This record gives sequence, structure tokens and C-alpha cells, in this order.
Amino acid sequence: MANLADKHIVLGVTGGIAAYKAAELTRALRRSGAQVRVVMTRAATAFVTPLTFQALSGNPVHLELLDPAEEQAMGHIDLARWADAILVAPATADFIARLRIGLADELLPALCLAATAPIVLAPAMNRAMWENRATQANVRALERRGVRILGPAEGEQACGESGPGRLLEPAAILAALAQLWEPGRLAGLSVLISAGPTREAIDPVRYIGNRSSGKMGYALAEAAKAAGAQVSLVSGPVALPPPAVDEVVRVESAADMYRAVLERAERCAIYIGAAAVADYTPTATAPRKVKKTAAQWTLTLTRTQDILSAVAALPNPPFTVGFAAETEQVEEYARQKRLAKGLDLVAANRVGAGQGFDADDNALFVCWSGGETSLPLAPKKILAAQLIALIAERYHGQNPA
Ligand code: PMT
Repeated sequence: MANLADKHIVLGVTGGIAAYKAAELTRALRRSGAQVRVVMTRAATAFVTPLTFQALSGNPVHLELLDPAEEQAMGHIDLARWADAILVAPATADFIARLRIGLADELLPALCLAATAPIVLAPAMNRAMWENRATQANVRALERRGVRILGPAEGEQACGESGPGRLLEPAAILAALAQLWEPGRLAGLSVLISAGPTREAIDPVRYIGNRSSGKMGYALAEAAKAAGAQVSLVSGPVALPPPAVDEVVRVESAADMYRAVLERAERCAIYIGAAAVADYTPTATAPRKVKKTAAQWTLTLTRTQDILSAVAALPNPPFTVGFAAETEQVEEYARQKRLAKGLDLVAANRVGAGQGFDADDNALFVCWSGGETSLPLAPKKILAAQLIALIAERYHGQNPA
């Protein structure tokens, strides 16, 4: 069970059908040792009575922003100062939108504006409302400000539909909440990772590829998952079993990978480009197998689009991490690549002669704005955990909760 001993948790309850589940969450928070103060929106009181939360939390429930009695007992500023974390569960689409634009029209959003403590949202709503571009844009904007988003889970909904939008189970919410106090963690953040090689078709049976095995990118995906992130992996063709992450998207060419990454990049908090993407692709793919009649064959190649630069150039880019595979001047080229592509962090490895590509071990030189470090030779799984901890630290440094 999650340990939240002596943590001060403000539980915000907003007006959705899942509000009744916040009662169970209140009990679970108290069982894990937390002190709980419940703040309800006006809409939430239409679903569950404040008395329920008062009984379960052992504290009066906070409802009004401008009630002199409440302000005297513990006003919104005092509540904001008291909180070690603000957990809003369920968080409705309306509340998420209000938080994004910084409204302070009732107690809960005002409290969130005044708080310096981490804010964690567990959304719950109809599937279509969750998938709506407006909600998705709001969620991603909040994530970029350091707000953690837990879920939602998929499944049957109260409205009879099925899909993403269910409130996460209390145990999952508590486990993710407890991770807030563990350093180097990515709880509630979505991380997109590219891995493996790409294949550029010459004709139906031949392609231009490279020696990437996917080991580094897959190890990063597992390490990000272990750090509590929601992980999407976009993978070129590799022989590895799929890792236990939230989404694995298989692609073949650099153009496929570009599309798969760009479709998801706006919605993620962190993008890590570990894939060895082809820099050039045949200008034309022959529709039939090319016969070996000529003594020589010249291929014309065209530059591929740079995925990493495109992600970093988005209007609201995620924290963007690039790799650099170099055979010489590793550190110098890494620094140059970070600046040239506008990246938050670069992890560079020496490649060639059994190094980097397809090896089980690797070593990295890592640089970011104002700092750099070296991670010495180690199995890729160990190195990945170290790199993820470093990325988490840099991410939280740029996006304080
Ligand atoms: O897969 P493994 O066998 O475990 O090997 C790991 C690795 C050596 C492939 C990995 O550690 C690594 O270095 N990946 C990046 C390889 C690479 O393509 O490096 P680069 O210096 O050519 O490219 C720099 C960055 O630009 C990379 O993040 C790459 O993903 C990105 N890129 C490149 C071309 C392109 N069209 N789009 C891109 O996003």
C-alpha cells in the first residue's frame, strides 16, 4: 500500500458521476496515513453531499470562496499553504479547462492558482469529451506546466459508452501520488520514445537500413514506465519482444516514424528520440524487384525530414531529448547538435566497431543548457534508468510543480 504518512492532501472533488468514487478515495488516503481536507465544487455537491466527505475525512468540507466563516477558519490561501499536494479526483473536462485558463471563480480553482504544491488531476468524463481536441489541448498545456495527469482508465462508462474516461482506481491514484515524494520520478507524465532502425524501400524486396537493434530505446521505454510515466513507444523493425508499456506503434520507414511521432508529440510531456532514423531515402521506390542486369546501379537519395527538429519546433514542444551517434568528437558534436536542433537535452554515444549499435552495453555523454555529465559504460538497461532519472530531474527543473 502507498505510504502517505503525515502528508497533507487537499482532495478536490468536481461535478461528475465519478464523484461518488472520491468517497472511497478519501478513505484510502486516510488509511495510507494522509491528512485529508476535501474541497468540493458547486457541481460536485449535486452528486455527493459534503457530509459524506466530512465524515470520511474527519475534517469540515470546504465549499465557498467568499464565505467569511470559512475564510476565517481556513481560507483558500491557508489551504494552499497547508497542502503538500492537491489531488483533484474526479477532474471534469470543465474543471480542466478552467484550470488551464487560470479562472478563480470558486474555491477549488482559486486554491490551485494560489498553491505552490504539486497539482495532480485524475480525469473522469465521457470518452468523446476526453478525446475532444479542446480537452486534449488543455490537458497537454497543464502537463507542460508540471500538472500531473493520472489516467483516465479505459472501460465501460456510466453513459453506456466504452473507452478512455473512467476514473483510475484509488490504489493506482495513491501509488502515483506517493511517487511525488520520490526524486527522479515521472509519475503522471506521458513520455514518447522512438527506437530501432528505419527501413527505406528500394524495391519490394530491398531496403536501406542500419544496425540499430532497438535495445537502447526499449530499455528507455521500460525505465520510463518504471519511473511512473505513461509510455508510448514508436519502434522501427526490431527482433525484441514488445516492452510492457502503454502503447507500442510499429513503423517501417523514416516517413512512417515521422508521422507516428508527430501525431503524438503534442500530447506528450517528454519526447526521447533514440531511433536511428535514416537520413536519406531512395527518391523513388521501384514497384517491381529490380533485375540484376546492369553492371552498376546508381541510387538517387533524398533527405528525410528530421523528426527531432520538427518536434522541437512545435508551438508547444515537449521536453525534447535527442541522441547523437558519433564516431569522433562525441562531446563537441553533441553540444552542437543540441543547439542546432533546439533540444532540451542530448545523449551522445560513440558508435562503430561494436560500440553503440546492437551492443548490450553503452556509455553516454549527456549535455543540456548549463550542464553536462558522463554516464560510464554499463548495460543499456542500467544506463537507461540513469538517463531517465537525469531527464526527470531536468524536466522538473524546467517545469516546477
Ligand atoms: O538500437 P541500439 O542497437 O540499442 O543502438 C542504440 C543507438 C546507437 C541507435 C542509440 O543509442 C542512438 O544513438 N540513437 C540515435 C542514432 C542516430 O540516428 O543518431 P544521429 O546522430 O544520426 O541523429 C541524431 C538525432 O536525430 C537522433 O535522436 C535521431 O533519432 C534524430 N533524427 C535523425 C534523423 C531524422 N530524420 N530524424 C531524427 O529525428
